[in-house]
Order: sequence, then structure tokens, then C-alpha cells
Amino acid sequence: MNVSGITTLDEFIIKKQADFPYSTGELSRLLRDIGFAAKIVHREVNKAGLIRNILGKTGNTNVQGEEVQKLDSYANEKFLNALELDGECAGVVSEENEEPIIFDHKNSISSKYIIAMDPLDGSSNIDVNVSVGTIFSIYRRKSDPNSKCTMEDFLQSGINQAAAGYVIYGSSTMLVYTTGRGVNGFTLDPSIGEFCLSHENIQMPQQGNTYSINFGNYARFLSPGVKKYLDYCNEVDPETGRPYSMRYVGSMVADIHRSILKGGIFMYPPTDDAPEGKLRLLYECNPLAYIVEQAGGVASSGTKRILDIEPKDIHQRVSIYIGSYNMVNRVLNFVNE
Ligand code: AHG
Ligand code: MN
Ligand code: MN
Repeated sequence: MNVSGITTLDEFIIKKQADFPYSTGELSRLLRDIGFAAKIVHREVNKAGLIRNILGKTGNTNVQGEEVQKLDSYANEKFLNALELDGECAGVVSEENEEPIIFDHKNSISSKYIIAMDPLDGSSNIDVNVSVGTIFSIYRRKSDPNSKCTMEDFLQSGINQAAAGYVIYGSSTMLVYTTGRGVNGFTLDPSIGEFCLSHENIQMPQQGNTYSINFGNYARFLSPGVKKYLDYCNEVDPETGRPYSMRYVGSMVADIHRSILKGGIFMYPPTDDAPEGKLRLLYECNPLAYIVEQAGGVASSGTKRILDIEPKDIHQRVSIYIGSYNMVNRVLNFVNE
């Protein structure tokens, strides 16, 4: 904490480094790089409407004659730049790149860490001014530092995550992360350009009264248990507070953020056209599962704990039921009946 009584993200990260006595500070620097890139993306998300609808009406070029980039590729570029520049990580798997990006600068090669990320989650919401996010997951690499990182570094189970987090660009911008010792949330104060500790040691309610699912898929859900659970959510039962309210933003970061703070469940079950589920294991489900578990919640594919799944492919999809402890356990009972 500084004289103003505020704890900034950078101060907090440095303070927490003491929890890891043999730490070299590399993970701390990596987290700070991510915090920095998040501020740049925040700046751009906040003027998305300006650029597209006021400045960029004529087509794809802005006033400087530069191409107006899609925000997801912009976010990807900013995060990749931040991660490459300081050499704090050896490589990145990103939703925006088919192949892993393997850095070859000597500083990057000597790094112990790799990252998986969804630079912009909920991209269909940008044009309509609805919350979007960034999701990231950090692993200690398996291959020997001092050589380029390899595929086996990326194909690790979620249980191996060294840290994970998300940024939500909403009515305010927040960064929430864990290194496996609880979950902490920081709100960006744009007037000082700092993420400030606002949600210390977040524990999510074991039970909530909202559920999040794309209800439009009802006819396509493969599991009859999912439909039964949805009927259960909609049943009237004054004692339990049912029917629950349905909330679905279409940015899983936003839906899960709400569940973390207020209690609730988010589901993306298998459907006819996405029998393995739609969401990506490495950079959507694993990091959010790690955070939710750290906050006292549960994350399952329906048959397996998300964090225990061994990935075979970097862009692998998986079904997910994630959120408050009681709610996820209940849906799993329905699904596995
Ligand atoms: P992305 O924008 O990174 O592609 O992710 C969107 C994801 C997730 O955030 C959201 O919950 C889900 O896709 C929405 O999918 P449906 O439109 O199929 O409901
Ligand atoms: Mn996404
Ligand atoms: Mn995305």
C-alpha cells in the first residue's frame, strides 16, 4: 500500500512474490506485462465506437490512413508484443493463431514460462458496446529453458497452471488473477492509469440464483439431463428461490465474472453442431476453471474435472459446467443420471 491507501496491481504482485521464497521474479514480471497490455487494450476497447462509427465510416481506414483493425487481432498483437518484448515468456498459444508462437530471442528462450490466451473474448459484443474480456493461462514449461519451447509445453493439463486470470472490459475494467493462493481482483482507475486492489481474496457463493446458457440451443442439446436441469431452473419453488433468473451476455468472461461475485452457473454443453462443446480448453476453460476452483467453485466437462483433462490439441474444444459449488454439482447429477 502507498501513501494514498491504494494497493496497485504492481505493488500487490511484488508483495506476493514473497510467498514464493525461491522465486526469481519472472512470473511477477510476466503478470505485470499482462497488466500493462490490458491497459492498452482497455484504451482501444473504449474508443471502439468512435473509430468504427465516427472516424472510420468510409471503410477500413482511419484518419491517419491506417487500417482499422478488428479489435481481436489488435488485442492479440498488443498482448504478443508485450509478452515478446520483455522476454518473460518462451511462447504463446492464442485463439487468433493457428500454430503456437515460439519466440526465438535469447531472453525469451531462457524463460521458464509459456502462455495460452484468448486475447478478446466475446468479440461479437464489441460493435454493440457490451462487455468483452481477455483470458490467460500461464504454465511452467516442460522443455529445457535455453532452447525454444515445444508443443509439449503447451499441451499440459490445467492443473499445472502457474497462474491464470482474466480482464473484463465492462462498465469498469477489472483484472482478476490467481497464482493458486486465492483470487484477487483489481479495478482500473483510468484517472491514474493503475489497476487498484478492489476485491481481495474473492470467495464465490456456493449457491446463486442465476444460470447462464445459450437457451436458443435448447433443441440442439445432446444431453437430456441438461434439458431436465433447465426445466428444474425454471420451476417455481419459493423455498429455493426458483425459478432462477437467466442471464447470458455472450462473453463467457462476463457471465463467469458475475457468477464469481454473486453466485451462479455458466454452461456450454455439447450440441448437435458442437458435440465436443464449443469453448476452448486451453485459453477459455482451463484458466476460468482454475480461478473458479480457487474461489471455491467447480468446473467440469460433464464427465471430468476440467483441470484434469489432458489436451491433445491446442485449440481443443470442451463442454463446460462452471460456477457455484452446489449448482454445478446439481447439474452434474442431472447430466449423469
Ligand atoms: P470469442 O469471442 O473468443 O470467440 O468467444 C465467444 C465465446 C464465449 O465467450 C461465449 O460465452 C460464447 O462464445 C458464446 O457462444 P454462443 O454465441 O454460441 O452462445
Ligand atoms: Mn472466447
Ligand atoms: Mn476470442
